[in-house]
Formats: sequence, structure tokens, C-alpha cells
Amino acid sequence: MDIVSTIATMQQRVSDARANGQKISFVPTMGYLHQGHLSLLEEGRKRGDLLVLSIFVNPTQFGQGEDFEEYPRDLQRDAELAVSCGVDIIFAPMAAEMYPKGYTTYVDVEGITELLCGASRPGHFRGVTTVVSKLFNVVQPQVALFGNKDFQQLAVIRQMVLDLNMPIEIIGMPIFRESDGLAMSSRNV
Ligand code: PAF
Repeated sequence: MDIVSTIATMQQRVSDARANGQKISFVPTMGYLHQGHLSLLEEGRKRGDLLVLSIFVNPTQFGQGEDFEEYPRDLQRDAELAVSCGVDIIFAPMAAEMYPKGYTTYVDVEGITELLCGASRPGHFRGVTTVVSKLFNVVQPQVALFGNKDFQQLAVIRQMVLDLNMPIEIIGMPIFRESDGLAMSSRNV
């Protein structure tokens, strides 16, 4: 398994894979993997020839006063878990690689982003759709897998893929829960 941190290298790897007729499956995450993420990777492994996992704590989806700094990060731990799930490439860019100086372009899905979580976290889904669009452009997957846990996020991504004619199959996967019923989340640590 390789860990890639630059967009240019990642795009070269997927372009080579596509030229060789390989199908790319993709699991975007912010890392600190738990059983829910591992189930996405296991399904992604079955659905593609090249399995790519991204780990990027995306600053644009965190509002002021939210937990961007405190969000758990441990690339070494995540890499060991990723190997056990058969991941081929981890894409783990720095923030400056994804949002270089002078960055000004955002993707905004209207309507469903204004309700529920979107009502209490203004700008959150704009950050999610922006980073997911960028990750899709970098990784160029045919299949991408997300948890049903973030159900509104999944609906927003499906809408974006439909509206922007992205040729990507979006798969929603079941929630994994702790023994007391709490939905597993990296934030729970
Ligand atoms: O669900 C997440 O972990 C994030 O919102 C995502 C989809 C990786 C975008 O940063």
C-alpha cells in the first residue's frame, strides 16, 4: 500500500490504472478509522480493482468554534487498518495542497443543505461538497462509498453527483453502532 500526498502523483496513479482498464473504488474519510469505515473499505475492495482511501480533515467544512483542531488524527494507526482491508492507496494531502493560496472556488448544493444539520452548521455542506468534488476530480473513481450515518451528507452528495453529471456510483452503507447503541464516529474518542 502506498501513501500519496500530492494531487499530481495521485492523478498519475489513477490515470495509469484507468489506462490498464482498472475500476477505481473510493472511500473518502477524515481518518481515525472505526468499524464503520472498515465496512466501507471491505465493500469498496469487492467493487473495484484499485481501492483508494482518502484521509483529509477538511478545514472548509468546520465552522468557527467547531472542533477542527481537536479532530482526532493518527495516520500510522489508520495505515495499519487500511492495509488489513486491502487498500491500495491512501491519499493524504496537506491542507495547502487542497486549498493553495488564492483558492476561491466552492460547490454549493441548494435546498436540502439548509435544513437539519445545515441549519445549525452554516457553510458545513458547502465545505463537504467542495472537498468531495475536488477528491472526485483527483481520484476519478467509478464507485464511491459513504456511511448512512451522515444521512443528510449522503443525500447532498447524491444530489451534487446528479446535478453535476459526475459519472460515479454512490453507495450508502449501513451504520455501525457501539454496544450501547451509539453510532460509531471518529469524534466519539
Ligand atoms: O464524512 C466525512 O468523513 C467527511 O464529511 C467527508 C465526506 C470525508 C468530506 O470531508
